[in-house]
Amino acid sequence: MKNNLILTGFMGSGKSTLGIKLSYALRMALLDTDKWIEQKEKCTISQIFASQGEAHFRELETQYLKQLFDKKDSQVISVGGGLPVKAENRDLLKKLGFVVYLQASPQTIYERLKEDTTRPLLQTEDPYGRIVQLMQERECYYLEGATKVISVDGKTIAELEEEIKQAYLQFQMQRRETK
Ligand code: S3P
Repeated sequence: MKNNLILTGFMGSGKSTLGIKLSYALRMALLDTDKWIEQKEKCTISQIFASQGEAHFRELETQYLKQLFDKKDSQVISVGGGLPVKAENRDLLKKLGFVVYLQASPQTIYERLKEDTTRPLLQTEDPYGRIVQLMQERECYYLEGATKVISVDGKTIAELEEEIKQAYLQFQMQRRETK
């Protein structure tokens, strides 16, 4: 098992922002799977959804996730919101390190993303309804794929950063003790 710090959760749960903060705080490199895919594929996630469809994007996610095993050092990795839905991906994540699920309410997500145009899955007439529906479908997968669940509602980024940092350091200490 590897030693990465992995952030999962619904779109808008704070994975990218917290990823940046934690990578500074823990002096670890940062990798955002969406940004990585966009860089490598030379197009945006919206373009991939529009031209090749969601199923193709899901294949890319698994393909790129597997490549993370070749990287030697530990990193902070934030993953796309739909990535843990696939069982294969959840297994890969657990092998890659400590998986934190950033759990948020639909209201929190809606407030953050109501003006967003970069998430193809939320470009509908009723984004709130879509958020509720997707969250209901996904909650069990997020929980199943997580080592630690952290609720984000009503907390500041600084508070969350500290909570995740402490949980990760504790995880590392326990690993060292059991070696
Ligand atoms: C998706 C979440 C997005 C991105 C894509 C699909 C999802 O990532 O991977 O738009 O299915 O929830 P973020 O969670 O970083 O927004």
